[in-house]
Amino acid sequence: MVNGRGAFQFHSRRAKLSRKLRSIAIYLALLVTFFLFTLIYISRKGLEGDGQQGTASDEIRSERVPEHEDVLHSEVHMKDQQLWGTPFSFGLHPCVKSTSKYKAAQETDRYLTVRSNGGLNQMRTGISDMVAVARIMNATLIIPQLDRRSFWKDSSSFADIFDEAHFIKSLEGDVRVMKELPVGIESIPHARRHFGSWSSMGYYEEMSHLFKDYQVIHAPKSDSRLANNDLPLDIQRLRCRALYHALRFSPPIESLGKKLVERLRSRNGQYIALHLRYEKDMLSFTGCTYGLTKAESDELRIMRERVSHWKVKKINSTEQRNEGSCPLTPKEVGIFLRTLGYPSSTLIYIAAGEIYGGSARLLELASRFPNLIFKETLASTEELEGFMDHASQTAALDYIISVQSDVFVPSYSGNMARAVEGHRRFLGHRRTISPDRRRLVEVFDKLERGEISEGSSLSRIVRKMHENRQGAKRKRRTATPGVKGRARFRTEESFYENPYPECICSTKSQS
Ligand SMILES: *[C@@H]1O[C@H](CO)[C@@H](O)[C@H](O)[C@H]1NC(C)=O
Ligand SMILES: *[C@@H]1O[C@H](CO)[C@@H](O)[C@H](O)[C@H]1NC(C)=O
Repeated sequence: MVNGRGAFQFHSRRAKLSRKLRSIAIYLALLVTFFLFTLIYISRKGLEGDGQQGTASDEIRSERVPEHEDVLHSEVHMKDQQLWGTPFSFGLHPCVKSTSKYKAAQETDRYLTVRSNGGLNQMRTGISDMVAVARIMNATLIIPQLDRRSFWKDSSSFADIFDEAHFIKSLEGDVRVMKELPVGIESIPHARRHFGSWSSMGYYEEMSHLFKDYQVIHAPKSDSRLANNDLPLDIQRLRCRALYHALRFSPPIESLGKKLVERLRSRNGQYIALHLRYEKDMLSFTGCTYGLTKAESDELRIMRERVSHWKVKKINSTEQRNEGSCPLTPKEVGIFLRTLGYPSSTLIYIAAGEIYGGSARLLELASRFPNLIFKETLASTEELEGFMDHASQTAALDYIISVQSDVFVPSYSGNMARAVEGHRRFLGHRRTISPDRRRLVEVFDKLERGEISEGSSLSRIVRKMHENRQGAKRKRRTATPGVKGRARFRTEESFYENPYPECICSTKSQS
């Protein structure tokens, strides 16, 4: 009995045990299934991170991982190209050779003397025009006198800034150039002529009749004396030869400029040259006082009233700014470059004279881009000695560094900005970003009022706004429609801002 009972008890215990084991097995199976499902779910979730709804099998999904990384990689690469690369300009090259009809310059005893006016770049383009004018008039050009009276008050002579011997030699076939008038001719009466602005070939042919009565014609001004358009190809190419080849800077300037470019490259490889035209004369001239104190605004107004050759005296700063006629402030430039996608580690060379308001006014640019470089920090005091008190010579250093930069950004469209942009187009459409100041002001004002914030959506707007303002190939803009008479010329794009197509050719066309 005891056994029987015992056996029963044993049987029932076994039954209990096997039931228990079965439930454990089911439990484990459920656990494993749950675990597997979770695993698959997690792995799918991870792969679907790029937003794609896939129906493909898991094997294919797992193979997509490296592909996904490639996409990321090429996005980074594309972004790099968008920020630093040269705008598409395949097969274009500089072309400045004269045509087969072009005849070598002959000796003449008619002389053209010139006093070049304005800052460095106004003088450079003016001199290049005068080379072309001397050619049209069959005159010998005497090395121009440089402006010593402009705002910059620079006492430099032609030979201090330019390589004079090279200038004379390289124009040999085009125009005879002499250092000074031959002895005896200096003292005879000269004709003094203010040539009309943006004049045509016919105008100068007419003017050359003056040589019947005078052996020397003196031009007291050289800026914008020659039309941008409708000139023979040989004259346009001569302007390019003069500006890009003959008007080389003097050896000390060229050599220091080259050294400074190398120094910038060795720091980071790439750099932006920022022409930050936030200088006293520019702010006073344009009447732009946005963000300035009452005392500063007054100082700028008084300066404007005192400079006799600045004709416009009464300026409403708000209206001026809304029209896009003010240079961007350092803070605005900082926001602009960040929204374009330049990382805060970007090296930025400040091509400018003294910034109005000094380093305090640069704080909001420096907080976004701490790697700001000035010529004073890039070069030693000894290296800069002899340059610093000559505005045109330091401007020449800025010019070289700006032309050679990976990206050039002018905060205002003055003579320097135009000349550098044109030179960069000539050398292969290097990236020049021209801020659309009128539309940017609207963006900055919205930011100021807190209606938008600096972020990816603002970035998209600003990038879109500047898609076609990066220095890619395009024809020179003609006059603004509706503008009549001589004022038309003022609205044309300057020849030197965009020497395409005359001096930039595609591989197929003749050079
Ligand atoms: C300049 O010289 C050329 C060749 O000698 C001549 O054909 C042309 O008419 C001259 N131009 C002027 C403006 O004197
Ligand atoms: C300047 O122009 C703005 C906008 O047109 C106007 O609101 C403001 O009153 C003007 N300021 C002066 C001093 O005339």
